Amino acid sequence: MSLADRIEQLKAGGQAAIAAATSTAALDQVRIQFLGRRAELPNLLRGVAQLAPEQRGAVGKAANEARRQLEQAIEQKLEQLAAAELQQRLEQDKLDITLPADPLPALGRLHLITRTRREIEDVFVGLGFKVVEGPEVERVYYNFDALNVAPTHPSRLTTDTFYVEPATDLFDPQTQLLRVHTSPMQIRAMESQPPPIFLIVPGRVYRPDSDATHTPQFHQIEGLAIDEDITLADLKGTLETFARAIFGPEREIRLRPHFFPFTEPSVEVDVSCFNCCGGITADGERCPLCKGTAWIEILGAGMVDPNVLHHVKHNGYSPEQVQGFAFGIGIERIAMLKHGVPDLRLLYDNDVRFLEQFA
Ligand code: DAH
Repeated sequence: MSLADRIEQLKAGGQAAIAAATSTAALDQVRIQFLGRRAELPNLLRGVAQLAPEQRGAVGKAANEARRQLEQAIEQKLEQLAAAELQQRLEQDKLDITLPADPLPALGRLHLITRTRREIEDVFVGLGFKVVEGPEVERVYYNFDALNVAPTHPSRLTTDTFYVEPATDLFDPQTQLLRVHTSPMQIRAMESQPPPIFLIVPGRVYRPDSDATHTPQFHQIEGLAIDEDITLADLKGTLETFARAIFGPEREIRLRPHFFPFTEPSVEVDVSCFNCCGGITADGERCPLCKGTAWIEILGAGMVDPNVLHHVKHNGYSPEQVQGFAFGIGIERIAMLKHGVPDLRLLYDNDVRFLEQFA
């Protein structure tokens, strides 16, 4: 074969290979194969000087032309393939910044205790009660003495109350403690405003207990209503409204005689069980919620004891002129009953799997 034919053949082979290349990487291999340092065509060009003089011109020209054409064809094809590859990458890497991140960010929500507190607050605000808060570090005077708690009452012992160090004299009215209930705010509120007074006091309270139904810190809502002609019937109507708002419009309540130092008479309040009918569930079993009694205890209440009012007589609370009722609600207890929470500690473990159930 003449050199001219061989050059023609190489050119045709190169063009076919260029046309067949489907990627820039494959095209690069074609370039090395036909135009690389060890490829035949460039070798031929380098050897032109050794050819017979009459051959040099034609062979040199043909080889040069073939190289130029192949280079040009590669360049064109490279542009084409690179554009296609870029397009493909763009399609695959499509990033829509208007879509939310995946997985969806956690939205967060109110803790069940906060939710329950707000729910209860809403009911009483709707009835005309004001929401106030009080100090968690309290004095013996407000926590016990002014609430008519006898000096011998066991709740004053260090086994039942957290005293703030150094508590040298547990009977000194000024001694500081962590309030064991929200009731002290009854006295503080009556000291700060004359009657009539209608308020609720949500907040944290503290007791040295820890088991499935007790945590050292928990939450209560105190209620206080004092005016000239408030009766036990007002207390019952108020608490019935509360029970129906929280546990459903079909609920009844009943008052059972009880004892609290700061109320007389005192009652414990039960709500009719919302899990069964007369203590028997739909499956004919003894109801586990009310233990078959058809009633569930929800709070303590009573008519404010005149001995309590006596401490704030100077501000218009003379027991001869005004009277009223008080109540204390455990927020955790309401939340657990309403949502079937079996262990109080679940409310404080901060396990998201538990918490996120309460939307
Ligand atoms: N302070 C009581 C407790 O912590 C709850 C309570 C009962 C509050 C009766 C009241 C009340 O105001 O009248 O157990």
